[in-house]
Amino acid sequence: MKAAVCERYGPPEVVQIREMPKPVPADGEVLVKGFATTVNSGDARVRALRVPRGLKLAMRLKLGFNQPKQPVLGFEMAGQVEAVGNSVTRFQPGDRVVASRGFDFGCHAEYVTVAEQGDIATIPEGLSYEDAVALCFGGTTSLIFFRLGKLAAGETVLINGASGAVGTMAVQLAKHLGAEVTAVCSAANAELVSGLGADHVIDYTAEDFTRNGRRYDVIMDNHGNAPYSRVKDSLEPGGRFLMVVGDLWQMLTAVRQKAVISAGKTDASKTADNYRTLLALAEQGVLKPVIDSVVPFAQIVDAHRRVDSGHKVGSVVVTFGQDD
Ligand SMILES: NC(=O)c1ccc[n+]([C@@H]2O[C@H](COP(=O)([O-])OP(=O)(O)OC[C@H]3O[C@@H](n4cnc5c(N)ncnc54)[C@H](OP(=O)(O)O)[C@@H]3O)[C@@H](O)[C@H]2O)c1
Repeated sequence: MKAAVCERYGPPEVVQIREMPKPVPADGEVLVKGFATTVNSGDARVRALRVPRGLKLAMRLKLGFNQPKQPVLGFEMAGQVEAVGNSVTRFQPGDRVVASRGFDFGCHAEYVTVAEQGDIATIPEGLSYEDAVALCFGGTTSLIFFRLGKLAAGETVLINGASGAVGTMAVQLAKHLGAEVTAVCSAANAELVSGLGADHVIDYTAEDFTRNGRRYDVIMDNHGNAPYSRVKDSLEPGGRFLMVVGDLWQMLTAVRQKAVISAGKTDASKTADNYRTLLALAEQGVLKPVIDSVVPFAQIVDAHRRVDSGHKVGSVVVTFGQDD
């Protein structure tokens, strides 16, 4: 099978397509043939070892000191079950699924194996592979943070970085939860985020939301330029700060400050449950997948370049077509 291999940290061009052995499902595993995956901001961070200040050593220890331990990146895949290992009962060949191996990556390849009890969920009829996979990264992140931050109906939430993969899902899920949503992005994306349900839009090039005197119950930072120290006066009493991006010092603040919610604060939810929630909401028309671009697998380096721009709109989807 073909796989996109990243054998050293660096720019998009370090990614190369190679032939690799097709995996065989072990007992309890499902073999998925990929139709669509994403290059998301997490993949691009790992590829470039571009991590927030103070976290490089920890990331090298986790991901590989001089090169990625797992050279095939990719968090999520949408595709069809091709085969199942012994004792698998919940999936069978032909099922349409989204699947992930989490930080074991491996989804930038034509095939991937996933544990039956792992991060895998059935795609409802009527939802394309591209749409299904586009929900996963930003959708699971938003669900986790909103749950940890206890975002509730009637509350106000400001989403900084509202037009990316996380932001576009966060705007819609916050509306679905009954919150009043303020989206912060560039003017070019104002119409998009309004269309997704944002009640108010702030163009960060024209207005600093931390200086306009307004306060919010919840502030979510998806860009990294709105740390707790900068936004704390924009929080209502009892307000919560969702630190989706943060450096080591901000993480240490999260340990001391109850108001600061980081991904480190434990979330017991299962990815497969989150996938099922997202797919069901998309099937009901509550959640719209937002796709920046669809790139053939042979051009995955271009997908990495687009992600590196820092201005993609929703998800960059990569498809495994017959030409690949
Ligand atoms: N902690 C976790 O578990 C976790 C999980 C997932 C992602 N993340 C992190 O979350 C971040 C966002 O991910 P993503 O995939 O959504 O990224 P993305 O798709 O690249 O989105 C970036 C967003 O940032 C906005 N932006 C750019 N410059 C800005 C500025 N100066 N002020 C405010 N917003 C600005 C962009 O808006 P315009 O294009 O309109 O400028 C866009 O909405 C990444 O750093 C990723 O690593 C963390």
